[in-house]
Amino acid sequence: MKTTAIQIIKNSLQGEALLKKNTCIGDLKNVFVDEAARIALPQERIVYEVEAYLPVKEGTEGGLFWGITKLYPGKVGNEYHMTRGHFHAQSDRAEYYWGLEGDGVLILMDRKRYTWVEEMKPGSLHYIPAHTAHRVANTGNTMLSFAACWPADAGHDYEEIAKNGFSARLLDTEGSPKLKSV
Ligand code: F6R
Ligand code: MN
Repeated sequence: MKTTAIQIIKNSLQGEALLKKNTCIGDLKNVFVDEAARIALPQERIVYEVEAYLPVKEGTEGGLFWGITKLYPGKVGNEYHMTRGHFHAQSDRAEYYWGLEGDGVLILMDRKRYTWVEEMKPGSLHYIPAHTAHRVANTGNTMLSFAACWPADAGHDYEEIAKNGFSARLLDTEGSPKLKSV
């Protein structure tokens, strides 16, 4: 029997033609509340890595993409390392995230700017509804890895979050994560 082109080995995607993207401190201008703290850090420090399998062309109706995000532990000021966060460009597209390793928090915000959180840990399954921005923060001291499956025609709208942000931030408050409205 033929083996599949892509395999998941130790929370990593293995195979040919995978999309790989690293996001560093230097790429995350104005993403964290404490911009001075971000500037003071080594700009080449990796915050997260994404490996994705895109078996169909981006934009294909009915297609699915699959990826793993590895979010390194760390903080920028009092804010945990986190992904940039986005709505989907095709806003009515939903997504699944699920925790593979480490401890984190999935931060979700609807179009009315109501923000809520879900604890992310190995085995936690998260349904991200349509019209909902999503970002993940690593609240632990070890790597946080999660998998994602999303429609090939969802796309990413980073502009809305770049312009208006989320309505709340997850901050280390006396040693534990607290969601604070902004
Ligand atoms: C795809 C998706 C994830 C993220 C990844 C990085 O729709 O939600 O694969 O793209 O976790 O986060 P962003 O894209 O917000 O930098
Ligand atoms: Mn998404």
